[in-house]
Amino acid sequence: MKTFYIETFGCQMNAHDSEKVVGTLLAEGYTQVDTPEAAQLVLYNTCSIRDKAEQKVFHRLQQFKREAGHGKLFGVLGCVAQQEGERIFERAPHVSLVAGSASYTKLPELLVQLETGNRRVTGLSLDTEATFDTPYTRRDNPHRAYITIIEGCDKSCAYCVVPFTRGPERSRTSESVMREARSLAELGYTEIQLLGQNVNSYRDPSPEAWDFATLLAKTGEIPGIRRVRFTTSHPRDFVKAIVDAIDANPALCNHVHLPVQSGSTEVLRRMQRLYTRDEYMRRIEWMKKAKRDIAITTDIIVGFPGETEDDFQKTVRMCEEVEYESMFIFKYSKRPNTPALQYQDHIPEEEKTRRFLILQERQRAIQIRRNASYVGRTEEVHVEGFNVATQQWIGRTSQHKTLNFTDADFPTPSEGRTLVGQYTDVLVKRSGPNSLAGERMENR
Ligand code: SAH
Ligand code: SF4
Ligand code: F3S
Repeated sequence: MKTFYIETFGCQMNAHDSEKVVGTLLAEGYTQVDTPEAAQLVLYNTCSIRDKAEQKVFHRLQQFKREAGHGKLFGVLGCVAQQEGERIFERAPHVSLVAGSASYTKLPELLVQLETGNRRVTGLSLDTEATFDTPYTRRDNPHRAYITIIEGCDKSCAYCVVPFTRGPERSRTSESVMREARSLAELGYTEIQLLGQNVNSYRDPSPEAWDFATLLAKTGEIPGIRRVRFTTSHPRDFVKAIVDAIDANPALCNHVHLPVQSGSTEVLRRMQRLYTRDEYMRRIEWMKKAKRDIAITTDIIVGFPGETEDDFQKTVRMCEEVEYESMFIFKYSKRPNTPALQYQDHIPEEEKTRRFLILQERQRAIQIRRNASYVGRTEEVHVEGFNVATQQWIGRTSQHKTLNFTDADFPTPSEGRTLVGQYTDVLVKRSGPNSLAGERMENR
């Protein structure tokens, strides 16, 4: 019997890639086990977006070697695999497979090479038109499913490794996406999340030639699908038709993650983001004027090379203006191969930390204020779990807010009965900076 263990870091694309890799291995006759100790093949799906993530990889690879024992095969997948390539064999000689995401369609062949004794198996070509579509995906969640619609990235943001680690953009045909979405609905999935590094540049390669807004609208019409989400949107390619689609169909979640990175047009120019602050704000305006209450979230990089105090203050002011529902803040991290590496005026670490903390503090105040405005409202949640420590059900609103709740008639999961996977209305009674809490309404 062939056994494997897999551990995954990084974004949702990586998490979903792993679901597809697991499905592929199972179809090849492997069995998945829960610990590296129990496995013959240990796979590690890696992320390289910031330096810290990459450092973790080599640390963890050493740990695996110590813990997992001898006579095992180790494979590195994902963005560090693609970025470092065969150098991984030098730095971690116990590794015998290195493959980037653009090579996963070849995994069965790569596994055969491993099984026949090759100890330096690689899948590193980025020269592919293919997308990794497989009928074998082994999904972790029985209610909410990821669907990749576009792989790779054709932008070249000056700080970012993704174009190097995931290669050029390849869109799936709309037919293949719709087929997968329909079959998920038939299997009982009610929520789908369309994935891509830049979903907005989706372009159906078949004669149908659907754009992203069309694909989004069509997936929202599939019977049985109650919620459709999507990540990530690049502001340059974000069109008003997406907002119109959300307005037209409540199955499309009223949440848009629109990473701005900086509120200074000058910094955006040097980041090669291809939009100005004003152009970004126009997109915010479309959403603020929508009929539905669209939650807007973002990513910010502080301390990009050359970012002045004035640039930083522009970012802070923009965040106060938009009033994001939540945000991820990152300190700029130098990445190999990227243009920004060559820039002058790198910002000292302490200064990046100072800006990070200021923005975090301001954003916390915004979230406290925004979340307080939900108290008294009734929100539909998709129930995701039960928190034993707090004795509350964990719900998620269409806006992607966490809304924990109690239910007098159903205080805890019992005898295999659970609310998880159901949709229910919750009256919001309390709020904090990061979540809401309430009570389930009588709607059964
Ligand atoms: N494709 C998506 C997100 C890619 S990575 C997009 O274009 O928005 C997720 C986030 O990581 C980015 O939005 C950015 O804020 C952050 N990030 C990427 N590279 C980084 C770097 N070198 N240093 C710090 N943060 C980075
Ligand atoms: Fe990276 Fe920019 Fe592509 Fe996003 S759009 S993955 S930040 S290069
Ligand atoms: Fe990380 Fe690669 Fe995703 S670098 S964020 S795993 S695309």
